[in-house]
Amino acid sequence: MAGVPTLAAPETDRPLVIGLSLSPTWVRAAAWRRLDSRIEEVFDLDFSVDAARRAEAAHLDFVFKPDALTLDPTVLASALGFATLDPTVLLSAVAARTERIGLVTTASATFAPSYLVAREVQSLDRVSRGRAGLNVVMSLGGQQNFGRAHMPPSDERFAAAHAWLDDVRALWATFPGEALALDRDTGAFADVSAIHALPDRPGRPRGPIDVPSRRGARIPILQAGGSPAGKDFASQYADAVFAAAATTDSAAAQREDLRARAEARGRAPGDVRVLPGLSLFLAHTRDEAFALHAASLDASDLPQSLAGLSRLLGIDLVALPLDERIPAALAAGLQREQGPVGAIAALIAAGITPRALARSAEGAASLHWTVIGTPADAVAQIVARARAGAIDGFIALPAGSWGSFALFLDEVVPALVDAGLFRERYDSATLAGHLGLS
Ligand SMILES: Cc1cc2nc3c(=O)[nH]c(=O)nc-3n(C[C@H](O)[C@H](O)[C@H](O)COP(=O)(O)O)c2cc1C
Repeated sequence: MAGVPTLAAPETDRPLVIGLSLSPTWVRAAAWRRLDSRIEEVFDLDFSVDAARRAEAAHLDFVFKPDALTLDPTVLASALGFATLDPTVLLSAVAARTERIGLVTTASATFAPSYLVAREVQSLDRVSRGRAGLNVVMSLGGQQNFGRAHMPPSDERFAAAHAWLDDVRALWATFPGEALALDRDTGAFADVSAIHALPDRPGRPRGPIDVPSRRGARIPILQAGGSPAGKDFASQYADAVFAAAATTDSAAAQREDLRARAEARGRAPGDVRVLPGLSLFLAHTRDEAFALHAASLDASDLPQSLAGLSRLLGIDLVALPLDERIPAALAAGLQREQGPVGAIAALIAAGITPRALARSAEGAASLHWTVIGTPADAVAQIVARARAGAIDGFIALPAGSWGSFALFLDEVVPALVDAGLFRERYDSATLAGHLGLS
């Protein structure tokens, strides 16, 4: 395929990594208004447990809970927005009602104290018997909830995130499970020589943490982001990156870049898996899928969609007339961007209106890879991207309805198994095991 780097060849035999967002994307926008949406249950445990158990029955690697630490109440006038339970509390409860699937929580390196995150995630790892993962985000907002008038600049957030994640990982090791002796005969509870504090550094946690690690624990790290600073961070620490990649070329370019950066850091290029978000509006026929997509947008509040797009793109689309072309000058600042933002810039340059942009696949999917079609359409696109070496897997964002969600797990995933791209059963019990990490 023209323009798609094939640097990735050595891992093409490795099975895809598939996660499911518990966000829950399938009742987002106007999809909650369907009679079968179960929206009344969205803040109850069973809603998420049901989704996670179905994902486990399909042997997915993990369920994944993004988190924003902020709420825009105006969005709630017409949609769920980002209202949510705390991700680690929710996943701890899901842990008790699932057996094998990985549980990836999200924490903000910008706002959450490293000590608290370290003990929460180590606790999740214990209650789930090794299924915890940590998705590190730098946060896109929420400063008002942490006593800050302004969002710290991106470079400052990333600089702080390096120390933050070093501390989280170091704290995990301060109380190794192996230190527990629990010898009733001698009365030795723990080998205290194996439990240690961290060096005394201003503003940094000392430990030791009060939660023992699991024996031999390896908690996988995910990172969400896409800027050069984000990739640099991911290339040092991340086992996988949650990426926004609307096109094959942009996914391949991000993957090649991350692999090269990982290698420059002395890691194997395949150590950082690239998992683009994949928004799936699925139905038995393409016509039904397009109708599902349109219905999930039609009844939704157009200004809210445009406000969301404006935040993502950093340009103001809200004040523009809905049915007149967006001035091409507004997209000028976007042109330098590769990938999804570039695709939207191209739509603007071609004269798209705000209404049409909000309803386009590119606009509606918040810059994610989007399939509107049948399960076979989704399988064809996933197989093509995998064979092109553009992805190591994906994070599924089923959209439009529970029916679309079910088609993904009941038809798309089994077809990927048949294609030899995904596991038929679990052969490990931990998230690190599912991901093939030592
Ligand atoms: C696909 C994707 C998902 C993200 N998910 C979250 C999230 O759940 N919570 C959050 O606070 N930030 C999230 N972010 C924001 C990133 O953590 C980061 O703050 C932002 O993208 C800026 O970093 P970058 O310049 O590397 O993209 C996400 C970013 C991307 C690209």
